Amino acid sequence: MKIVAINGSPRGMNGTTGRLLEEVLAGAVQAGADIEIVSLSETPIKPCVACDACHKVGICPVKDEYETIKDKLLAADAFILATPNYLLSITAQLKAFLDRCNGLIHLTALEGKYSALVETSGGGGDEEPLEYLQRIVNAMGAQNVGSIGSPGAGPRMFPDQEALFQKARALGKDLCDSVREKRSFPEQDPFRLGFKERMSHLIGFMGECWPYEKEYLAQR
Ligand SMILES: Cc1cc2nc3c(=O)[nH]c(=O)nc-3n(C[C@H](O)[C@H](O)[C@H](O)COP(=O)(O)O)c2cc1C
Repeated sequence: MKIVAINGSPRGMNGTTGRLLEEVLAGAVQAGADIEIVSLSETPIKPCVACDACHKVGICPVKDEYETIKDKLLAADAFILATPNYLLSITAQLKAFLDRCNGLIHLTALEGKYSALVETSGGGGDEEPLEYLQRIVNAMGAQNVGSIGSPGAGPRMFPDQEALFQKARALGKDLCDSVREKRSFPEQDPFRLGFKERMSHLIGFMGECWPYEKEYLAQR
Protein backbone atom coordinates (compact mmCIF):
# COMPACT_ATOMS: atom_id res chain seq x y z
CA MET A 1 0.00 0.00 0.00
CA LYS A 2 1.42 3.35 -1.08
CA ILE A 3 0.95 6.55 0.95
CA VAL A 4 2.28 9.95 -0.14
CA ALA A 5 2.69 12.67 2.49
CA ILE A 6 2.87 16.29 1.31
CA ASN A 7 4.32 18.61 3.93
CA GLY A 8 3.70 22.33 3.37
CA SER A 9 5.95 23.60 6.17
CA PRO A 10 8.84 25.83 5.07
CA ARG A 11 10.85 23.96 7.73
CA GLY A 12 10.21 20.67 5.99
CA MET A 13 10.51 17.58 8.17
CA ASN A 14 12.73 19.53 10.63
CA GLY A 15 9.79 21.60 11.87
CA THR A 16 7.06 21.02 14.44
CA THR A 17 4.58 19.89 11.78
CA GLY A 18 7.20 17.46 10.49
CA ARG A 19 7.54 16.04 14.02
CA LEU A 20 3.80 15.31 14.30
CA LEU A 21 3.73 13.99 10.75
CA GLU A 22 6.58 11.58 11.66
CA GLU A 23 4.31 9.94 14.24
CA VAL A 24 1.40 9.56 11.79
CA LEU A 25 3.82 8.01 9.30
CA ALA A 26 5.26 5.70 11.98
CA GLY A 27 1.74 4.35 12.60
CA ALA A 28 1.23 3.86 8.87
CA VAL A 29 4.56 2.09 8.38
CA GLN A 30 3.83 -0.21 11.32
CA ALA A 31 0.50 -1.04 9.65
CA GLY A 32 2.34 -2.01 6.45
CA ALA A 33 2.40 1.14 4.33
CA ASP A 34 5.12 2.10 1.92
CA ILE A 35 5.48 5.84 2.45
CA GLU A 36 6.95 8.68 0.44
CA ILE A 37 7.39 12.22 1.80
CA VAL A 38 7.23 15.28 -0.45
CA SER A 39 8.48 18.39 1.38
CA LEU A 40 7.38 21.48 -0.48
CA SER A 41 10.35 23.30 1.13
CA GLU A 42 12.67 21.10 -0.91
CA THR A 43 10.42 20.79 -3.94
CA PRO A 44 8.92 24.26 -4.28
CA ILE A 45 5.76 24.55 -6.33
CA LYS A 46 5.07 27.80 -8.15
CA PRO A 47 1.67 29.52 -8.04
CA CYS A 48 -1.02 28.74 -10.62
CA VAL A 49 -0.94 31.15 -13.59
CA ALA A 50 -4.63 30.58 -14.48
CA CYS A 51 -3.82 29.48 -18.05
CA ASP A 52 -6.58 26.80 -17.92
CA ALA A 53 -4.25 24.25 -19.57
CA CYS A 54 -5.23 21.66 -16.90
CA HIS A 55 -8.84 21.97 -18.09
CA LYS A 56 -7.98 22.11 -21.79
CA VAL A 57 -5.15 19.55 -22.15
CA GLY A 58 -4.77 17.95 -18.71
CA ILE A 59 -1.11 18.91 -18.20
CA CYS A 60 0.23 21.92 -16.33
CA PRO A 61 2.84 23.84 -18.37
CA VAL A 62 4.40 25.64 -15.37
CA LYS A 63 7.99 24.41 -15.10
CA ASP A 64 8.49 22.66 -11.76
CA GLU A 65 7.80 19.27 -10.15
CA TYR A 66 3.99 19.63 -9.96
CA GLU A 67 3.24 16.99 -12.59
CA THR A 68 5.59 14.51 -10.85
CA ILE A 69 3.85 15.03 -7.50
CA LYS A 70 0.44 14.78 -9.22
CA ASP A 71 1.44 11.39 -10.66
CA LYS A 72 2.56 10.22 -7.21
CA LEU A 73 -0.86 11.20 -5.80
CA LEU A 74 -2.70 9.44 -8.61
CA ALA A 75 -0.63 6.28 -8.05
CA ALA A 76 -1.09 6.27 -4.25
CA ASP A 77 -3.78 4.48 -2.27
CA ALA A 78 -3.85 7.25 0.30
CA PHE A 79 -2.22 10.59 1.03
CA ILE A 80 -1.48 12.92 3.91
CA LEU A 81 -1.50 16.72 3.80
CA ALA A 82 0.46 18.48 6.55
CA THR A 83 0.75 22.19 7.31
CA PRO A 84 1.52 24.65 10.05
CA ASN A 85 -1.29 27.08 10.84
CA TYR A 86 -0.42 30.33 9.08
CA LEU A 87 -2.84 33.19 9.82
CA LEU A 88 -5.77 30.86 10.59
CA SER A 89 -5.11 28.93 7.39
CA ILE A 90 -2.49 26.84 5.58
CA THR A 91 0.96 27.89 4.33
CA ALA A 92 1.41 29.67 1.01
CA GLN A 93 3.53 26.70 -0.07
CA LEU A 94 0.68 24.22 0.40
CA LYS A 95 -1.91 26.63 -1.02
CA ALA A 96 0.19 27.08 -4.17
CA PHE A 97 0.32 23.29 -4.55
CA LEU A 98 -3.44 22.92 -3.99
CA ASP A 99 -4.23 25.70 -6.48
CA ARG A 100 -2.19 23.79 -9.05
CA CYS A 101 -4.43 20.76 -8.30
CA ASN A 102 -7.42 22.61 -9.77
CA GLY A 103 -7.61 20.15 -12.65
CA LEU A 104 -7.73 17.20 -10.22
CA ILE A 105 -10.45 19.02 -8.28
CA HIS A 106 -12.65 19.65 -11.34
CA LEU A 107 -12.49 15.93 -12.13
CA THR A 108 -12.71 14.78 -8.49
CA ALA A 109 -9.81 12.66 -9.70
CA LEU A 110 -8.80 11.30 -6.29
CA GLU A 111 -12.11 9.47 -5.80
CA GLY A 112 -11.48 6.07 -4.18
CA LYS A 113 -8.47 7.35 -2.23
CA TYR A 114 -8.23 8.16 1.48
CA SER A 115 -6.51 11.02 3.28
CA ALA A 116 -5.31 12.06 6.71
CA LEU A 117 -4.58 15.64 7.74
CA VAL A 118 -1.89 17.02 10.06
CA GLU A 119 -1.58 20.56 11.42
CA THR A 120 0.36 22.39 14.13
CA SER A 121 -0.04 25.91 15.46
CA GLY A 122 1.60 28.38 17.80
CA GLY A 123 -1.46 29.02 19.92
CA GLY A 124 -4.32 26.73 18.89
CA GLY A 125 -7.25 27.26 16.56
CA ASP A 126 -6.27 24.00 14.90
CA GLU A 127 -9.76 23.20 13.57
CA GLU A 128 -9.91 26.02 11.02
CA PRO A 129 -7.11 24.87 8.67
CA LEU A 130 -8.07 21.22 9.21
CA GLU A 131 -11.71 21.84 8.27
CA TYR A 132 -10.60 23.77 5.18
CA LEU A 133 -8.24 20.97 4.14
CA GLN A 134 -10.97 18.36 4.61
CA ARG A 135 -13.19 20.28 2.19
CA ILE A 136 -10.34 20.38 -0.35
CA VAL A 137 -9.70 16.65 0.02
CA ASN A 138 -13.43 15.96 -0.41
CA ALA A 139 -13.48 18.29 -3.42
CA MET A 140 -10.75 16.10 -4.93
CA GLY A 141 -13.14 13.18 -4.44
CA ALA A 142 -11.21 11.51 -1.61
CA GLN A 143 -12.54 10.59 1.83
CA ASN A 144 -10.77 11.92 4.93
CA VAL A 145 -10.10 9.27 7.57
CA GLY A 146 -9.13 11.72 10.28
CA SER A 147 -7.29 14.88 11.22
CA ILE A 148 -4.84 15.73 13.97
CA GLY A 149 -3.78 19.18 15.09
CA SER A 150 -2.03 20.65 18.10
CA PRO A 151 -0.38 23.79 19.32
CA GLY A 152 3.33 23.37 19.87
CA ALA A 153 5.16 23.74 23.16
CA GLY A 154 8.45 24.83 21.58
CA PRO A 155 10.18 23.57 18.45
CA ARG A 156 9.16 19.96 17.70
CA MET A 157 7.49 19.62 21.12
CA PHE A 158 3.86 19.49 22.21
CA PRO A 159 1.84 19.73 25.41
CA ASP A 160 0.64 16.29 26.53
CA GLN A 161 2.99 14.90 23.91
CA GLU A 162 2.75 11.16 24.51
CA ALA A 163 -1.08 11.17 24.28
CA LEU A 164 -0.88 13.25 21.09
CA PHE A 165 1.70 10.92 19.52
CA GLN A 166 -0.45 7.91 20.35
CA LYS A 167 -3.38 9.56 18.55
CA ALA A 168 -1.10 10.39 15.62
CA ARG A 169 0.13 6.79 15.29
CA ALA A 170 -3.47 5.54 15.57
CA LEU A 171 -4.40 7.89 12.71
CA GLY A 172 -1.62 6.43 10.55
CA LYS A 173 -2.91 2.92 11.25
CA ASP A 174 -6.51 4.01 10.60
CA LEU A 175 -5.49 5.38 7.22
CA CYS A 176 -4.07 1.97 6.25
CA ASP A 177 -7.06 0.09 7.68
CA SER A 178 -9.43 2.35 5.73
CA VAL A 179 -7.65 1.50 2.47
CA ARG A 180 -7.68 -2.24 3.24
CA GLU A 181 -11.32 -2.33 4.39
CA LYS A 182 -12.52 0.22 1.80
CA ARG A 183 -14.20 2.15 4.63
CA SER A 184 -16.93 4.72 3.96
CA PHE A 185 -17.33 8.12 5.58
CA PRO A 186 -20.96 8.90 4.65
CA GLU A 187 -21.03 12.11 6.71
CA GLN A 188 -18.67 13.58 4.08
CA ASP A 189 -20.87 12.59 1.15
CA PRO A 190 -23.25 15.59 1.03
CA PHE A 191 -20.35 17.98 0.39
CA ARG A 192 -18.13 15.51 -1.50
CA LEU A 193 -20.78 14.25 -3.92
CA GLY A 194 -22.50 17.65 -4.14
CA PHE A 195 -19.18 19.14 -5.24
CA LYS A 196 -18.71 16.40 -7.84
CA GLU A 197 -22.17 17.19 -9.22
CA ARG A 198 -21.36 20.91 -9.39
CA MET A 199 -18.13 20.24 -11.27
CA SER A 200 -19.93 17.99 -13.77
CA HIS A 201 -22.39 20.82 -14.47
CA LEU A 202 -19.56 23.32 -14.81
CA ILE A 203 -17.62 21.12 -17.25
CA GLY A 204 -20.82 20.45 -19.23
CA PHE A 205 -21.50 24.18 -19.38
CA MET A 206 -17.94 24.97 -20.55
CA GLY A 207 -18.19 22.32 -23.29
CA GLU A 208 -15.51 22.74 -26.01
CA CYS A 209 -13.64 25.39 -23.98
CA TRP A 210 -12.29 22.57 -21.77
CA PRO A 211 -11.92 19.60 -24.16
CA TYR A 212 -9.73 17.50 -21.83
CA GLU A 213 -12.21 17.65 -18.97
CA LYS A 214 -15.19 17.10 -21.28
CA GLU A 215 -13.54 13.94 -22.66
CA TYR A 216 -12.48 12.72 -19.18
CA LEU A 217 -16.08 12.91 -17.96
CA ALA A 218 -17.35 11.20 -21.11
CA GLN A 219 -14.96 8.26 -20.40
CA ARG A 220 -15.75 8.04 -16.63
C1 LIG B 1 3.90 33.44 9.04
C2 LIG B 1 3.41 32.66 10.23
C3 LIG B 1 2.08 32.73 10.56
C4 LIG B 1 1.59 32.02 11.67
N1 LIG B 1 0.27 32.12 11.98
C5 LIG B 1 -0.22 31.46 13.06
C6 LIG B 1 -1.59 31.56 13.40
O1 LIG B 1 -2.40 32.24 12.77
N2 LIG B 1 -2.03 30.87 14.50
C7 LIG B 1 -1.18 30.11 15.25
O2 LIG B 1 -1.62 29.53 16.24
N3 LIG B 1 0.13 29.99 14.93
C8 LIG B 1 0.64 30.64 13.86
N4 LIG B 1 1.97 30.51 13.51
C9 LIG B 1 2.82 29.56 14.28
C10 LIG B 1 3.00 28.22 13.57
O3 LIG B 1 1.77 27.70 13.12
C11 LIG B 1 3.61 27.16 14.50
O4 LIG B 1 4.79 27.64 15.07
C12 LIG B 1 3.84 25.85 13.79
O5 LIG B 1 3.95 24.81 14.75
C13 LIG B 1 5.11 25.86 12.93
O6 LIG B 1 5.26 24.62 12.29
P1 LIG B 1 6.60 24.26 11.49
O7 LIG B 1 7.72 24.21 12.50
O8 LIG B 1 6.32 22.95 10.88
O9 LIG B 1 6.82 25.35 10.47
C14 LIG B 1 2.48 31.21 12.44
C15 LIG B 1 3.84 31.15 12.08
C16 LIG B 1 4.30 31.88 11.00
C17 LIG B 1 5.78 31.80 10.63
